[in-house]
Amino acid sequence: CFASGTARGDFAQCMSAQLTPHMDPFTVIHSSKSSSYSYLLESSQQNPRWVNSTATKPLFIITPLHESQVQAAVLCSRAHGLQIRVRSGGHDYEGLSYLCGTLFVLIDLVNLRLVEINMTDETAWVQSGATLGELYYGIAKESQVHGFPAGLCPSVGVGGHLSGGGFGTMLRKYGLAADNVVDAYLIDVNGRVHDRKSMGEDLFWAIRGGGGASFGIVLAWKIKLVRVPPTMTVFTIPKWLDQGAIELVHRWQFIADKLPEELFIRVIIQKVSDGKAAQSIFNSLFLGKAESLIPLMDQNFPELGLKATDCTEMSWIQSVMYFAGYQKGEGLEVLLDRTTQYKSNFKAKSDYVKEPIPETGLKGIWDRISEEKIAFVIMDPYGGRMSEISESELPFPNRKGNLYNIQYLVKWEQNDARETNKHVHWIRMLYRYMTPYVSKSPRSAYVNYRDLDLGMSASGNGSYLRASIWGPKYFKNNWKRLGMVKQVADPENFFRNEQSIPPYVAAG
Ligand code: FDA
Repeated sequence: CFASGTARGDFAQCMSAQLTPHMDPFTVIHSSKSSSYSYLLESSQQNPRWVNSTATKPLFIITPLHESQVQAAVLCSRAHGLQIRVRSGGHDYEGLSYLCGTLFVLIDLVNLRLVEINMTDETAWVQSGATLGELYYGIAKESQVHGFPAGLCPSVGVGGHLSGGGFGTMLRKYGLAADNVVDAYLIDVNGRVHDRKSMGEDLFWAIRGGGGASFGIVLAWKIKLVRVPPTMTVFTIPKWLDQGAIELVHRWQFIADKLPEELFIRVIIQKVSDGKAAQSIFNSLFLGKAESLIPLMDQNFPELGLKATDCTEMSWIQSVMYFAGYQKGEGLEVLLDRTTQYKSNFKAKSDYVKEPIPETGLKGIWDRISEEKIAFVIMDPYGGRMSEISESELPFPNRKGNLYNIQYLVKWEQNDARETNKHVHWIRMLYRYMTPYVSKSPRSAYVNYRDLDLGMSASGNGSYLRASIWGPKYFKNNWKRLGMVKQVADPENFFRNEQSIPPYVAAG
């Protein structure tokens, strides 16, 4: 990117003027000439698809140590006509936290990652730059009988995850991560810091599931911890085609959302290398002991044939390690590693299923996944607590009536255009194939599994109407309210990206 020297110089001067006199500006402001710049830019990009791209690189990367530096970055960017991108954990599926089509400043919250647990009222304040792993580690250090219902991958950032909803193995018992947020600190477009009271209930509603980047910069979240039993049980049962894999997945669809809310069984249909066939994996967390789980499975899902030897009892934090793919015996400190073990080029898409898919339909998934080298179809069951919360309680609307969420994911090794196009085409064809089997009008998707194929915002007049092509797919009937909140909070649309919420404008 070739920034005009003026924009570059003016922004740097504006930022430096906001720092305290004894502070070395190079610890917070990194230009492309700084030795830290490339490392900072690439270290938390969880999808390296764009590492060698010609996309505009940030003019500066700001790594604030204090909220006042976030305020300064917002005000200086606005004053000098620069856009911003905010990054917490860098897991955005389409790279929107660090890519931008125009001159921009990247505010990376990596240094704002305190986790403060308060066991008296069973809450925690967690700064957005913390990862889920850092949060889970902090909770486990304080209590063996508390947890938090968020995602499975420890390197995911709290900032983006809670902004889009966030779900993991305890969603059937406790709902989304965002359902368990009770307060937040937000920096608005004028650089002011708000808590829940001063931002008001509309804005507080919008930031819990309306997707990151639209309403301001969330500095920290106050979350309600949940009580978990000291002993939980996990199992993972793989099934090949000749072991009745398709019939079992078919049967699973009729029971997974109706099981007691303590029991979460997800299905992963996966192909992990060229030499191997696809298989389905039944992967489960039960909030209780194996002696209670086995009769429950015998009664509800005897076809899977769960045996005591398939079950492993463990604490909540050990279950976090288990689902994150760590080996037994590894120290909890691995949860503090900010780089995902799954880092690779990928493209993902998502769907919601309301009626069981017939066996013939499932067979088509199998046929397609067999064509790829590394591909996954992950089915996460809903029901339980998710069905008790209304569709308008938060912007995330996929509640009662959804049997499960599907995530389609394809990965590839070689980072070149030919390979990328080939795999992206494959996943688009799979998505097209799934059309008759998934939710309709709108065909729903999960905003944290961001998919730019659904549509992109344009700036300027008409942006709300044009965004209404993709917006309801993520937010259904909450779309209009999100636009109205945006209209009040940021009428000039300073906080924006390709799929942010534009200010509401009435049709006609
Ligand atoms: P990142 O920093 O890229 O931010 C994502 C978006 O939020 C961007 O638009 C960004 O600008 C904005 N943003 C970030 N911080 C902000 C802040 N403080 N204030 C305002 N806006 C902010 N999801 C899930 O529900 N369950 C799961 O188990 C998983 N597992 C998983 C594994 C892996 C390997 C990946 C790559 C992703 C997931 N996800 C997931 C999806 C994940 O929840 C989603 O990508 C989150 O938005 C990531 O948040 P980060 O902060 O890491 O991303």
